[in-house]
Amino acid sequence: MEERIVSGESEINEDSFEYSLRPQTIKQYIGQDKVKNNLEVFIEAAKMREETLDHVLLYGPPGLGKTTLAAVIANEMGVNLRTTSGPAIERPGDLAAVLTALEPGDVLFIDEIHRLPRAIEEVLYPAMEDFCLDIVIGNGPSARSVRLDLPPFTLVGATTRAGALSAPLRDRFGVLCRLEYYSEEQLNEIVQRTAVILGTGIEETASEELARRSRGTPRIANRLLRRVRDFAQVKGNGDITTGLSREAFDLLQVDKLGLDHIDHKLLKAIIERFRGGPVGLDTIAASIGEESHTIEDVYEPYLLQIGFLQRTPRGRIVTHLVYEHFQLEVPTK
Ligand code: ADE
Repeated sequence: MEERIVSGESEINEDSFEYSLRPQTIKQYIGQDKVKNNLEVFIEAAKMREETLDHVLLYGPPGLGKTTLAAVIANEMGVNLRTTSGPAIERPGDLAAVLTALEPGDVLFIDEIHRLPRAIEEVLYPAMEDFCLDIVIGNGPSARSVRLDLPPFTLVGATTRAGALSAPLRDRFGVLCRLEYYSEEQLNEIVQRTAVILGTGIEETASEELARRSRGTPRIANRLLRRVRDFAQVKGNGDITTGLSREAFDLLQVDKLGLDHIDHKLLKAIIERFRGGPVGLDTIAASIGEESHTIEDVYEPYLLQIGFLQRTPRGRIVTHLVYEHFQLEVPTK
């Protein structure tokens, strides 16, 4: 699969850039008001009782700030953040090593928690429920189980696919937070904030247009800003003007709604080869030479979100919005 500038997934080497932009407190964190309001109360209450915060599950599309929020939670609680991920924990021993290294009250962040192997989930249950670890020593008839006490801690799990989590694991989180796509106004605020941190001037219209092209996703907004800033540095005096940013967007092939050549290819294929649909997923996949699940998991969600595409029992159809976006005549049935 080729790399897209408008992908919500993080790129290689993008983490340190994002890390430098990360808000530290709930106040600095823009958007996700419902989630923030809830967390604020739970954090305040836990601190008043001098207890650890309940385990928190953050779920939602990639790039909306789940890792950032985990760091904010740890900071607000005044404890350490320990970070790992589902795919990084291969054996029960890996998880035991992480858990026994925790200090009282710490936040353990497990990214992509839906990718944790089932055998390891089982180790996590008593750790989450009773702050203890059951480990088996030896094997065969002489094997015995030992129970180790752990310090109380808060597990913050993040996933893009809450449905992929097993029910027993999901049930052990006291706080469930669904992150939503950001509004253009919120993204505009994030762009302005990032520009200040990067020391780049940006015209209001340029910032608004950048926000509109960011597909509701701060990671994409910050990435676009960085690319446009490079362009402004080379072609101008470093400040991001509206004219320079439009030139940059043309070059990057990101259109007014943040659609790129892959979105265009998909939508145009449905219009030109299948009269706008309905057409089955596998037929589209074969027609544009992509995997069905890539289309379903990666390309479609944003197009569905903005109402460009609809899933019907008979297949996918493009809506009148797509014809208007491409300045094509809406066909009469
Ligand atoms: N950078 C990325 N996401 C952010 C957010 N929600 N608030 C502030 N800065 C951010």
